[in-house]
Amino acid sequence: DPARMEKIVSLCKRRGFIFQAGELYGGLNGCWDYGPLGTELKRNLKEYWWRKTVQERDDVLGMDGAILTMEQVLVSSGHVGGFSDPMCDCLLSKARLRADQIPAQDGTAVHFKGAKHEASGWSSDRGFAVLVAPGKDPIESHKTARKFYAEFMPDKKISPKELELIEDSRVEVVGSTSFNPDNGSLLTEPRQFNLMLQTNFGATGDQIAYLRPETAQSIFVQYKNVLDSNRIKLPFGIAQVGKSFRNEINPRNYTFRSREFEQMEIEYFCRPEDGLRLTDEWLEERLKFYAEIGIPREKLHILDIPDGERAFYSQKTYDIEYEFPFGVQELEGVAYRTDYDLGVHQKGSGKPLEYFDEETKERFLPHVVEPSAGCDRTILALICEAYDEEKLTDDKGKDDSREVLRFVPRMAPIKVGIFPLLKKNEEQVRIAKEIQKKLQPWMNVFYDDGGAVGRRYRRQDEVGTPFCITVDFDTLGENGPELKDTVTIRHRDSMEQERMPVDALLAWLLERVR
Ligand code: GAP
Repeated sequence: DPARMEKIVSLCKRRGFIFQAGELYGGLNGCWDYGPLGTELKRNLKEYWWRKTVQERDDVLGMDGAILTMEQVLVSSGHVGGFSDPMCDCLLSKARLRADQIPAQDGTAVHFKGAKHEASGWSSDRGFAVLVAPGKDPIESHKTARKFYAEFMPDKKISPKELELIEDSRVEVVGSTSFNPDNGSLLTEPRQFNLMLQTNFGATGDQIAYLRPETAQSIFVQYKNVLDSNRIKLPFGIAQVGKSFRNEINPRNYTFRSREFEQMEIEYFCRPEDGLRLTDEWLEERLKFYAEIGIPREKLHILDIPDGERAFYSQKTYDIEYEFPFGVQELEGVAYRTDYDLGVHQKGSGKPLEYFDEETKERFLPHVVEPSAGCDRTILALICEAYDEEKLTDDKGKDDSREVLRFVPRMAPIKVGIFPLLKKNEEQVRIAKEIQKKLQPWMNVFYDDGGAVGRRYRRQDEVGTPFCITVDFDTLGENGPELKDTVTIRHRDSMEQERMPVDALLAWLLERVR
């Protein structure tokens, strides 16, 4: 549903969750800045992941590796040689697209039929990417493409640069035909495009280093150091959260495919005979995690990647996919990578990486199960899942509506809003500020005294604050002693209110927001 996605993107900008990086200067494609609320949300996700995967488990340790990575590490891992996507160029529009987003790599074009126009092109995973008309003049073909865009997206002025950004899911695919690159095609033959970002390094700048394309490699490279510096036995895991970088050919779908993103990865080392079982166990563990942060099981799809489609070293891979508004797409991969990674680093470095089992006196390379999640993708899923437009009736019986982010409280960027009913009432302000000070060491709170209290509630609904506290005349004891020192707690989802003693607030909230 493109309209839903547009509303989400607009809310995220308006309320300071996500901005395009470098927006002031036109924007850096595929890079995003998180604003104040987005940052809180991301911290909540990463901290909860860390708590569940590292702190509450005896068998997983954390690490925090360097982003700049030695060339040799990535030569051994296979990234320098093979971390690439096949890419096609459209010569006229200069659009680039990943060949794997074109379903017909064998040279099949797809016919599109709209209400007024008909054209052919390569389709991408949502509608078409670049239109061409086999056998026709390429310029004419692009004119046809423009007519399409004008019909389906009349508010957009299309420049060639934008072609790659445009998708139209409302175009009906009516058939396909053999595509001959000799008769009018504008797409070049696919070629391999390495996705790593390289940088010059050292005083003279003649050394090469790479921005890591995944956090996993520093875990493999440090596995022996972690093992030797900790009294830990197989099976055990090393977890890491941090930035990764890929020069994606086609960054798209908001933050979904970015060039700079964060990963939350676990490399779980085990005996070879336990690999398959542990892969299934980690899958279950991860599904439980998603439920706990507010992504229910029924919105997730598990893809058991069949033989022949997995990486050659993997004996089992599950993709965990989520129903985004723009389609069902991968959130996380849980892969059984055998001893491939330790094997290539042992070979590349010439240093033994084997594990010695004290009990059985065996020496062997551990196998690895890897649950690898995308932090930014999970954030996007959390926002998409939480977003709701609710129809309401106001107190005068008129139709009303509100935008609300229904985050589970442990993920919500602001846990509680604190309001004095009247900004001018000094006593209400004093008590509200006192409550703010009392709660602040424990959770992110937001003090607001601007405008009618109903509007303040709505502003908090929009950013997903699960609870709001209002200090009013009852709190001051002005309507009888029994309500003195109590406040109103208003619930985001039901919009219901209850009274609670000020002294009970902290315990009540802590129980609900952790
Ligand atoms: N170490 C294994 C690995 O990196 P991957 O499937 O390439 O595997 C793991 O990446 C996860 O990282 C993905 O499931 C996704 O959530 C996230 N991810 C990968 N590329 C991304 C990108 N360009 N933008 C945002 N997230 C990305």
